[in-house]
Amino acid sequence: MAGSQFGKIFKISTFGESHGAGIGVVIDGCPAGIDIDTLLIEKDLQRRKPGQSKIVTQRKEDESFEILSGTFDGKSTGTPIALFIRNQDQRSKDYSHIADKFRPSHADFTYEKKYGIRDYKGGGRSSARETAARVAAGAIAKMILSHYGMAITAYVSQVGDIVSTSTSTDEGIIESNIVRCNDVSIAEKMISKIQEIRKQGDTIGGVVSCIIQHTPVGLGEPVFDKLHADLGKAMLSINAVKGFEYGSGFKAATMLGSEHNDAFQKGEDGSISTTTNFSGGVQGGISNGMDINFRVAFKPVATIVANQKSVDKEGNETTVTGKGRHDPCVVPRAVPIVEAMAALVLVDHLLRNRSVRL
Ligand SMILES: Cc1cc2nc3c(=O)[nH]c(=O)nc-3n(C[C@H](O)[C@H](O)[C@H](O)COP(=O)(O)O)c2cc1C
Repeated sequence: MAGSQFGKIFKISTFGESHGAGIGVVIDGCPAGIDIDTLLIEKDLQRRKPGQSKIVTQRKEDESFEILSGTFDGKSTGTPIALFIRNQDQRSKDYSHIADKFRPSHADFTYEKKYGIRDYKGGGRSSARETAARVAAGAIAKMILSHYGMAITAYVSQVGDIVSTSTSTDEGIIESNIVRCNDVSIAEKMISKIQEIRKQGDTIGGVVSCIIQHTPVGLGEPVFDKLHADLGKAMLSINAVKGFEYGSGFKAATMLGSEHNDAFQKGEDGSISTTTNFSGGVQGGISNGMDINFRVAFKPVATIVANQKSVDKEGNETTVTGKGRHDPCVVPRAVPIVEAMAALVLVDHLLRNRSVRL
C-alpha cells in the first residue's frame, strides 16, 4: 500500500493496524541534537487515547511506546527515529459480524474493492489507531518548532450546532474540560450534547480550530507545496475529516475586496504586520508572519447503534448493527491529531526554507 509517508525533509512513515501487533512511525530527517522529551510524547498520546473521559470511546488502549532508534543520551542523532506502540486492548471478536459486510460510510467497501483483501478487525489500517503514530511524530516536530519559538494550539470550536466564538489559546482553559473547548461554559453545553447523542446510540460531528503563533515569514514552497495546500492535505488525511478552511475560508466568497484586504502596517520596532488577518497568515502560499489559523470539520462518525441497511461482499442485501466500543464525537480526541499534523507540515517547511537562498 503506497501513501503511508508524509513530508519531504522531515519525513514520516507510519505503519501498523488497529488489531495487529502494534503501530509505529519511522521519522527520517530529524535534525541531530534535539532534546527528545519523552514526557511530551506521552502527554500528547494521552490526549488522543481512547477511554480518557466519559464522552469518548471506552476502549482502553495502552499508549506505552518504545523508541527503538535514532536517539542517544536523550538527544536525536540525525539518524532515523523509530517509535513503536504495541497494541493491547484488542477485542477482535467485536468485529466478526462485519467480516463479510460493508459498514455504511466506513472504509470497508473501498478497501475490499481496491486490495481484494481486508483486515476487518478494528478497521485495520483505516482505523484511527494509526493517528497515534502521527501524534508521536508530531510531538517530536513540536519540540523542534518550540526551539524556534513557534507554538501550535488546537481546540474544539464546534460540536453539532454549539459554537465557541472565543479565540483564546489558553492551554489551561482548553485542557480543563474533557471536550477541549476554549470556553468553559460552551464546553459544558458540548459535553451535555455529546452525552445525549451517545445515549441515543448516535454520533455527532464538530470542528477543531488551530492557531499557529510566532511563525517566521517565508515558510511554504510555491507553487504546488504552498503552506496552506500542505496544511490542507495534512488535515484532510486525518480520518473522518470533511472540510478544511484557513483565514476567511468559505466566508471569503461573500465578502468584498475592500472588506477582505489585509492592510499592512509598520510597528514601532520596524516590523511589518497586517491590521486584519483574513489571509490566515499565508499569502501566495508563504507565511507572512501573522498567526496562521485554520479550521477542520469532522463528520459524525459511521458507527452508530442502529440497524442500518447495507450489502455483503456478494452484493446481497443485509443489515449492519454497530457493536464494539466507538466514539460518539471524535473532536475531543482529534485536537492533538490536528496539532501533530500541523507541526509536521511546519517543521518540514522550516527545514526546507533553510535551503532557498544563500
Ligand atoms: C480520533 C478518531 C476516532 C475515531 N473513532 C471512530 C469510531 O469509534 N467509530 C467510527 O466509525 N469511526 C471512527 N473514526 C473515523 C474512522 O476512522 C473513519 O471514518 C474511517 O476510517 C473512514 O474514513 P473517512 O471517514 O475519512 O472516509 C475516528 C476518527 C478519529 C480521528
